[in-house]
Amino acid sequence: MPVDLEAAWARVEALADEVPTLTDLLDAPGRFEAERVIAPRMQMDFSRQRWNEGIRAALIALADSSGVLAARRNLFRANHFNPVEGRAVLHAALRMERDQHLTFEGEDIIASVHEALDRVCALADDVRGGRWRGANGGAIEHVVNIGIGGSALGPALVCDALEPAASHSPDIHFLANVDGHEAATLLARLPADRTLFVIASKSFGTLETKVNAETARRWFLERGGRSEDIPKHFVAVSTNFEAASSFGLPPGNLFPLWDWVGGRLSMWSPIGMPIAFRHGSAAFRALLAGAREMDKHFEEAAPEVNAPLLLALAEIWNTNCLGTESLALLPYASALGRLPDYLQQLEMESNGKRASLDGGIVSRHTSPILWGNVGTTGQHAYHQLLHQGTRRFSAEFVLPLRVRHELGEHHRWLVSHCFAQAEAFARGRQLTELEQVMRARGVPEDRVTAEATHRVLPGGHPSTLVLLEDLSPESVGALVALHEHKVFVQGMIWRINSFDQWGVELGKIIGDRIEGAITALEGDAAAAIASLDDPTTRELVKIFRSIAHD
Ligand code: F6P
Repeated sequence: MPVDLEAAWARVEALADEVPTLTDLLDAPGRFEAERVIAPRMQMDFSRQRWNEGIRAALIALADSSGVLAARRNLFRANHFNPVEGRAVLHAALRMERDQHLTFEGEDIIASVHEALDRVCALADDVRGGRWRGANGGAIEHVVNIGIGGSALGPALVCDALEPAASHSPDIHFLANVDGHEAATLLARLPADRTLFVIASKSFGTLETKVNAETARRWFLERGGRSEDIPKHFVAVSTNFEAASSFGLPPGNLFPLWDWVGGRLSMWSPIGMPIAFRHGSAAFRALLAGAREMDKHFEEAAPEVNAPLLLALAEIWNTNCLGTESLALLPYASALGRLPDYLQQLEMESNGKRASLDGGIVSRHTSPILWGNVGTTGQHAYHQLLHQGTRRFSAEFVLPLRVRHELGEHHRWLVSHCFAQAEAFARGRQLTELEQVMRARGVPEDRVTAEATHRVLPGGHPSTLVLLEDLSPESVGALVALHEHKVFVQGMIWRINSFDQWGVELGKIIGDRIEGAITALEGDAAAAIASLDDPTTRELVKIFRSIAHD
């Protein structure tokens, strides 16, 4: 690790010993205003982070020493941010405007990006306008996105988050899991002649997607579809046109993705096609515009008011200096119900790493475990542990200020509970206060003694509140870009490669071998099972074979 960076870490870590309590920090005059950051389409409240000006300054110095302040501009220029795989990281190019330029390997990639975007929008307009016709001449009523991970989570998040535009919107379905129940249940209720499948896979080699795509094609043919009608019902998005065309698709049905876009950062590319189908091409373009606003903010805003940078630093402080073990992501909006899933991939697949870019293993924790679900439902389930359990955590609340329904009373309650949880996490309820209240109510002393400890909420749990302007495409785009940049900052500071994912490979390799042993013909089975490495796995395969071959 560079000497400057290690020294900056030491200065930050030294501050952890004398950090004031969250309550003391919150009660300081002017705390809220000093900790509020205005960013595109949102305001961020950092007042409930357990930090002060001195800690923040040390964290910004840490970021500076990592090189991220200087490097952030290179996210918008040719770069080599994925050195381990020798790849550039240019997802931000996907939301640049038509008249911007970004030359990579001698080519202005913005022209290719806009050509693809125009094709996606034209296809979506044709489907929504009833001009794209199925095999029997009928309009498309259902779109099924067959893809997993980055080829599903982003489009699914945004499809749920936005209100469908008034014109004809096909129903969108996401088929990700290889679990046959999912495919069977979905396909059983779809009309084959009015369904369009999008096979979304950067590699076009992902097992789940290949199996689901083959099942969908078989289903289509079994329901009277002819092979020559496949192009009316299947399109594909991939970097691997060779594999996609061998599925039987002509060039006009193939939409590009590029090597310089990571799967989990690809919803701005043709991978985001379901968004355009569901909400219209204008909404898809507005989503990109919102992300672009956040890009500009990240690139240009001073560190002290830079929302993605501060969000990243707050979690570094919590994880590395205050000992929090997980990050609870709590959207107070059902429309954002898929945000925790989306951010799990973005944050944990990017920064769940231990190999250092300097060689060897990192000496500090990297990504916390991110989990969560919508408020207020979580309050009636796992918030008990958050308030009174023994684990340390931090939280991020996301709350849209304006909503699109007319039920004002519901929204007022939702907002009140979001604010209440953030306050309760921070302040808790202390023993002396509880005892006083109980005694003032005339509770007998033996009950005060017996009950008061059980009622204590220690508090002290840090959180950030993201107050989103609304649930417009621009706001949702800015929200996602905010987290993308957060992840980039953290990866630079932790000195890890945020843009590979070798950790997921081993399971795929073992899974392939196990499947081989499960499907081996009777005569070959003993050898296939014996070739498996793990004795327990061998026994499990025997059990499954005894059932599957009955
Ligand atoms: O297995 C992990 C992963 O490679 C993710 O990184 C990716 O988003 C997902 O699988 C799907 O990959 P593909 O788009 O190539 O099918």
